Amino acid sequence: MSDDVREIKSQIDIVDVIGDYVQLRKSGSSLVGLCPFHAEKTPSFHVSHERQTYHCFGCGKGGDVFSFIMEMEGISFRETLELLAGKTGVKLSSFSDEIKNRSVEKGRDIRSLLEESKNFFHSSLTGQGGEAARAYMARRNLDEGSWRRFELGWSPQSWDALSRHLQSCGFGVNEIIDSGMAIKGDRGLYDRFRGRVIFPVRDEMARITGFGGRLIDGEGAKYVNSPEGDYFNKRRLLYLMHEAKRAVRERGRVILMEGYMDAIRAHLSGFTEAVASLGTSLTEEQASLIKRFSDLCYIAYDADGAGQEASIRGMYILQRRGVDVRVVTLKEGLDPDDALSAEGGVEAFEHALKKSMPLPIYHVHIRRNDLRTPGKRRKAIEEVLAGLAVLPMLDIAEYIPSIAKGFGILQHELQREINARRKEADRRRISKNKENEKSAIYTEGIDDVHNVYIGIGKSEPDRRTVDLECAFCSLLWHDEELRSAYVCGELISLFADEATAGILSALLSGDTPQDLESRWRIMGESNCMGRIARGDAVLSAGSLGSEHAEKLLEDIRANAMRRKYDALRPIVLSEEACAEELMEYHELAKKLKGLKL
Ligand code: UTP
Ligand code: MN
Repeated sequence: MSDDVREIKSQIDIVDVIGDYVQLRKSGSSLVGLCPFHAEKTPSFHVSHERQTYHCFGCGKGGDVFSFIMEMEGISFRETLELLAGKTGVKLSSFSDEIKNRSVEKGRDIRSLLEESKNFFHSSLTGQGGEAARAYMARRNLDEGSWRRFELGWSPQSWDALSRHLQSCGFGVNEIIDSGMAIKGDRGLYDRFRGRVIFPVRDEMARITGFGGRLIDGEGAKYVNSPEGDYFNKRRLLYLMHEAKRAVRERGRVILMEGYMDAIRAHLSGFTEAVASLGTSLTEEQASLIKRFSDLCYIAYDADGAGQEASIRGMYILQRRGVDVRVVTLKEGLDPDDALSAEGGVEAFEHALKKSMPLPIYHVHIRRNDLRTPGKRRKAIEEVLAGLAVLPMLDIAEYIPSIAKGFGILQHELQREINARRKEADRRRISKNKENEKSAIYTEGIDDVHNVYIGIGKSEPDRRTVDLECAFCSLLWHDEELRSAYVCGELISLFADEATAGILSALLSGDTPQDLESRWRIMGESNCMGRIARGDAVLSAGSLGSEHAEKLLEDIRANAMRRKYDALRPIVLSEEACAEELMEYHELAKKLKGLKL
């Protein structure tokens, strides 16, 4: 057995294996990425090509390719050995006999039952009785090469052709029912898939999980899928991900589609980075799966109303996971399969990818008519704002000008609306966290829980904090160059005083101080100029120790950290913090100690 391990290790590169789960980039002599074992925002997960090991400086997990797979997949050493043996083609020696003789676990059996079913379907397509299916394939423009490439098959019209076949292979009735391939009826088993073209569905590690079957004629649901179960879990599967992985990593993007046929057509047309969700709108799990392989996702859903709405939902889920989203718009009424199959379709699709819209713009685009219709305008704006409020400022900052234009308002007004919703959302999230998430991690005493936590946005910042923030705005007010040196997204979250934060975003929105001043006057917002004046005053009094913007910003940052720390502390002490909050708390503590505040 140890020979097998050595043999497998010699044939497999840990960088490839881990690369399927974690985006790695070179850093010195090792590769680094975000640790898959704990939540983190800055990479502390290191992989050494030379030593074929990994180590996370954040959570301390480390080991070799075997321990990685065991941990990631939650499987035993033996299963890992088999999995890697399968990948490398290494024949397991003594060990494999041992497995054959042993009464094998259910898991193994179901998997081989599914494999056997797949083979049966495939031979049914190519063999006798498959004429109707082959004619259908020809109509859909799928040739024999593509049947093999995508392991397509055909489930005969008979009631129980597959069940009988599986039984002749030695599989038991209960196993067949458990696998979802057949259903128990009054007169014995009847097959789930009958008279359908079969699409085997593998997970990202190429393990078979189940099937989709498309009706070729007659009455019934267009598609039937394997029932939800341990293996076939639509929420976390993306069709063809195992085939797409390599291209996704090479090209740095995923193309997400709706249907089996769309993904297949894309691969046949050279877009081998395409995957499909299985008839559900995109789930959090699928978004995480995408994030494991890429930071960029093109959504190419059907160009119909349902597709558009699904795109909007899906893209916010992705963007919140940190995947940049672009939406591809196809000609009205087409799906990617149609579009790619048309004359000149490949070029047209390439063009559509180039012209794809970033998420916020797409959302405004889809609602463009509503935005111009008095009765619908308010609702459309609210919807887009709600969407924007859940995204990191950094992701939307560059689109603020065109969205503001779409709404017909000034940039800083848009910014203010977004900020208001963001604060509201933060407040809701935090109070929800406090209710729902009880962490099992134990901390010291709970002496001083009282009153520190008041809730984001509710506490009044102290005078010095407001002075600092006003001073920073005052510097920006008087210095155009300085205004263009900063991006609003990063800074806005650091400001404690709501009114000053509003001024900051106005100043960084590109509107000139003259515009702003007259605007504020018209709107009767006198305290805005008052805040600039206050900034001027504290600067000239010299009480801040520095007039340098970077220096002020350093103090503002420290303040923000301090506040965050103070807000988290009672949550942590009362043991209600989730893992992410706990991590952040400790990180902040470390940083604040360094600042000696
Ligand atoms: P579509 O109806 O767009 O299918 O459903 P399609 O892939 O374009 O199929 P063709 O071109 O008509 O053959 C998109 C996906 O939704 C799921 C399937 O995964 C399908 O590929 N679906 C659809 C179901 O699961 N059940 C259904 O009844 C219909
Ligand atoms: Mn279609």
